[in-house]
Amino acid sequence: MIVAEGLTKDFRIAERRPGLVGSLATLLSREHRTVRAVDGISFALPAGSKTAYIGANGAGKSTTIKMLTGIMTPTAGRCLVDGIEPYRDRRRNARAIGVVFGQRSQLWWDLSVPDSFQILRRVYDIPDTVYARNLALYRELLDIDALGTTPVRQLSLGQRMRAEIAASLLHDPKVVFWDEPTIGLDMVLKEAVRTLVNRAHAELGTTVLLTSHDLSDIAAICDDALVVDGGRVVHQGTLHDLLRRADRRSVVFEHRGGPGPDAVVRAIGAGLPGATASVTPEGRVRVDYPADALTSRQVLGFLLDRFELADCYAPEPDLETVLRQIYRGGVPAARDGGAA
Ligand SMILES: Nc1ncnc2c1ncn2[C@@H]1O[C@H](COP(=O)(O)OP(=O)(O)OP(=O)(O)O)[C@@H](O)[C@H]1O
Ligand SMILES: [Mg+2]
Repeated sequence: MIVAEGLTKDFRIAERRPGLVGSLATLLSREHRTVRAVDGISFALPAGSKTAYIGANGAGKSTTIKMLTGIMTPTAGRCLVDGIEPYRDRRRNARAIGVVFGQRSQLWWDLSVPDSFQILRRVYDIPDTVYARNLALYRELLDIDALGTTPVRQLSLGQRMRAEIAASLLHDPKVVFWDEPTIGLDMVLKEAVRTLVNRAHAELGTTVLLTSHDLSDIAAICDDALVVDGGRVVHQGTLHDLLRRADRRSVVFEHRGGPGPDAVVRAIGAGLPGATASVTPEGRVRVDYPADALTSRQVLGFLLDRFELADCYAPEPDLETVLRQIYRGGVPAARDGGAA
């Protein structure tokens, strides 16, 4: 449904010089520097997938989405959305997609939300039944009526975002590109937004590409992850695969009889080089170990040999820990099974 092949975008920026004289010199100068925002990205996202597009600030996410929505033309490579090259056929592409740029409004600044919806209804030729069904949903979940007839420019950020989200889904698009759709939203509305997109996915098979720095949005909406760093894809797979890239793993267990928890902690420290053990507030023992030095088989083998395990589980690493590691530059390949 969404395909990128060697997709690349360069920006030419004038070299700036400091100070007032420098600013004038910048205006006159012909010195330019090229910034490669997106560096030969390739991926294929199937119809009906829900993918998180993840990366640090400046990684190239919004630039990619601008090419996928037809706002920008690639410097090299190409992309296809539902078989269309978006920047070559913006009109046809617009019917198939719904877009939210949290940083930039897609709505008419001087019009009220109901007026904007009426225009969208005509532009997209939305059947009456679809329009009525969707509006009822936005009334219920986004309290859209409360926005009244205020022009969009006078709405608060959260109020505007509710209208943006609704506008992006109004015509039942095949694909939604949501670039930071939940900025400014409170918890109740975030939940409503997640419900809306998950419902569209379940009922219409909508394909979703989402960027958000709120990792709980990602966990609540997406199954897959595409991670970019410095304009390049560093991970494509399921969110679960991404979590398996954590450089530290953990096992938590309870044991029967034998030595007390403190003695167990000492035994693990002495017998499993690289691992650290601690007692949890619930009185269980937690073992943390580096995934490049020890395998889960080694750790579990050690524990089973020495202690009578009553209960044992491997908590999943959290997304934040894995992403922090990737953003800092350590991107190890996925390793052994991990989970117990
Ligand atoms: N119009 C532009 N002109 C020049 N440089 C640009 C332009 N738009 C983006 N860039 C540069 O391209 C790079 C990628 O920017 P982009 O907005 O795609 O990042 P992002 O991943 O969306 O980041 P964020 O998480 O902060 O939104 C950055 O280095 C940015 O400075
Ligand atoms: Mg961005």
